[in-house]
Amino acid sequence: MSTDISTNFVIEKAPTSRIGDVDFDNLSFGTVFTDHMFECDYVNGEWQTPIIRPYQPIMVHPALKVFHYGQAVFEGMKAYKDDDGQVWMFRPDQNQVRINKSAKRLAMPEFPKEWFFEALNRLLSMDSEWIKKGEGNVVYIRPFIIATQNEILASPSNQYKFMIILSPVRSYFRGDVSVVIAEHYSRSADGGVGAAKAAGNYAGQFYPTNLAKEQGYQQVIWTDANTHQFLEEAGTMNVFFRINDALITAPISDRILDGVTRKSIIDIAQSEGVDVQVRKLTVTELVNAANDGSLKEIFGAGTAVVVSPVKSFSYNGVDYPIDQPEHTYSAHFKKRLTDIQYNRVEDPFGWRYKVDVEKFV
Ligand code: COI
Repeated sequence: MSTDISTNFVIEKAPTSRIGDVDFDNLSFGTVFTDHMFECDYVNGEWQTPIIRPYQPIMVHPALKVFHYGQAVFEGMKAYKDDDGQVWMFRPDQNQVRINKSAKRLAMPEFPKEWFFEALNRLLSMDSEWIKKGEGNVVYIRPFIIATQNEILASPSNQYKFMIILSPVRSYFRGDVSVVIAEHYSRSADGGVGAAKAAGNYAGQFYPTNLAKEQGYQQVIWTDANTHQFLEEAGTMNVFFRINDALITAPISDRILDGVTRKSIIDIAQSEGVDVQVRKLTVTELVNAANDGSLKEIFGAGTAVVVSPVKSFSYNGVDYPIDQPEHTYSAHFKKRLTDIQYNRVEDPFGWRYKVDVEKFV
């Protein structure tokens, strides 16, 4: 098809909106979807005409490669509404680059940048009523690509579907979380797909996370697969450790997701003169810091969770509660981030992205 996406775009509007049925004060994360979805198929080596249509089930064959070999990647982003009703995204350029990196790692075609942004702008504009004003109200944006060839030969698909669905959400976790440090299972390994936002990375965590949940913990902090000594990331978020006033987080590698919230916190903290240490941190150092009182905070950072304080960790059968100071880094960085995201303050980093709703409605 022509590469002029602005003229080659099919729009099917939902005849009625479901918005009136939604209780926006009691949303369970990722269970409610807006009126429309974006869809674009890859066939014969080309992305076909993009379409926005009413949110609905998709009809597919049971032999689809994604069902058998897990060839699927996704992203997580959010749209925010400021007090004047303007709609914003946060660093969507980062997600655009990352979904294509993930796709490449899983032998999938890249989705064109211009199309990615056109799709996001149009879809968010059509469903902008679903983005409510006020702290904590957001629409979570889930772009994803799945392998749609109807064949169970174990090889890369020759057909794909790129979609974007939108879900109004509030918080991901209720309250502070407790975590267990992985001593046996692993999330990723050198040379693997840990840095990609591959669907299977999440499925592989469900069983060990269920075991952790049975013991009363919400998340696992993954360690390196070889020695289980180096602290890497948690299931749905990157992790930060505050020892005295130093803010420590693991360096990005091919085992760790290059999180947008993670790198934004690093930039904000550095701009404020915080001693940010992007380095390997061992479990032994963490346990020692917990024992001598220098461990002040652990928190997770990610698009869905934003900044999520950890109230305790468990290692080798011992629970280590974290006695957080009155003024936490987690609360401070969450405020700095959300102030930028909701357009409440200047954006010195140039991270905010305005959705031009007027242009598309
Ligand atoms: C996100 O933070 O957006 C993620 O993709 C994590 C997800 C599994 C909820």
